Amino acid sequence: MSRKESTEIKVSGKKKTTRANDAELTLPKEVNWPSPQAVGKLQRAVLKWYQENARDLPWRLQPTPYRIWVSEIMLQQTQVATVIDYWNRFLHRFPDVVSLGKAKQEEVLKLWEGLGYYRRARQLHAAAQQVVEQHDGRFPTDFEQVLSLPGIGRYTAGAILSISLDQPYPILEGNTIRLFARLLGLETDPTQTINQKLLWRFAETLVPAKEAGHFNQGLMEIGGRVCRLADPECPSCPLRKVCRTFETGQQKQIPAPKAKPTQYQSMHECLVLIQRNGKFLCRQSTEDERWTGLWDFVRIDITELVKTSQDAGFPGNAASQQLQWLQTEVKKRTGLSTNLQSCGWQVRHAVTRYRIQLNAVESSHVQGRIKPGSGYQWCSAGQLQEWAFNVTARKFISQHLQPLD
Ligand code: ADE
Repeated sequence: MSRKESTEIKVSGKKKTTRANDAELTLPKEVNWPSPQAVGKLQRAVLKWYQENARDLPWRLQPTPYRIWVSEIMLQQTQVATVIDYWNRFLHRFPDVVSLGKAKQEEVLKLWEGLGYYRRARQLHAAAQQVVEQHDGRFPTDFEQVLSLPGIGRYTAGAILSISLDQPYPILEGNTIRLFARLLGLETDPTQTINQKLLWRFAETLVPAKEAGHFNQGLMEIGGRVCRLADPECPSCPLRKVCRTFETGQQKQIPAPKAKPTQYQSMHECLVLIQRNGKFLCRQSTEDERWTGLWDFVRIDITELVKTSQDAGFPGNAASQQLQWLQTEVKKRTGLSTNLQSCGWQVRHAVTRYRIQLNAVESSHVQGRIKPGSGYQWCSAGQLQEWAFNVTARKFISQHLQPLD
């Protein structure tokens, strides 16, 4: 077993970290990581509560890995009350992993009918076949081997081995995510990747060396029946004395709702290629610009122009009016007069929350002198190769300019 027993919390200056396993984790400032004493208190409280309040569920009578596995797969996306009858019928027909592995898929699906999410049943069947073929029909008891079966992730492997064999593996699922977020006082969306790491670490810290099965089931039941989302029953919660959220009264705010997916904003830009005497007009990006220090061609934001343009395809098939606007803009920035036309090259790229469509235009004729102080200069083909250009300019060089070499 790989779990380390030690839990260490370091508070140095403002940076709080925890090392309950291999890597160090930085804690959000509001998080109240429990002391070893608080962990002991919490473990005792959960086990006592479970002893007094555990529901009578059929798979709890003889909790073998196989029987717990079937229950856990059925309990994904389905209420306990619905699962009970399905589990009883399933176990009556397939009392062990060998009988399931040897069954026809249609029969497995028939017994699953009405539970929904049929992929669960197909994976359960495939995993049983794998156990028959690779493990001699005995459900594995090693964490990594359990984890490698179809349809079994970290939570399910931990639940099976802790509930059936008391192996001290942590668990984290819907109810425990909410419970842990409240115990810790975690103010940000607990389903975010970074918070999931933190909560798994918390689960590792909590799981006791003995009675991990009762402990984990106790956590899930307290999470589901007491620490409910809408109306948590704090006065009767066995963990209220070690709960940061109870202490601060933030039950309505924690857990924080799911963070909205990033709203991407679409932008259009134009890359302007201006050549004279075999040289190219370029400029090094300044401190206040993105890609500071990197070289670029003339680049103009045309988002507004595209928005107001009748021709949605601009500037791939740029209308003359729009090219004229661009020429004026180029003149203002560089001091040069051009006769721009589309060169057909385009690319899509992403910068932070922007999704940018970049089109290139070029000029076959150039007049005037570079505007002093504009930062533009004529670069040779060798310099184009040598200097550091931003990603899309480099793409343009290699896709559009080099084939012309
Ligand atoms: N939810 C999923 N598995 C559970 C279990 N074993 N006990 C309580 N609730 C659960």
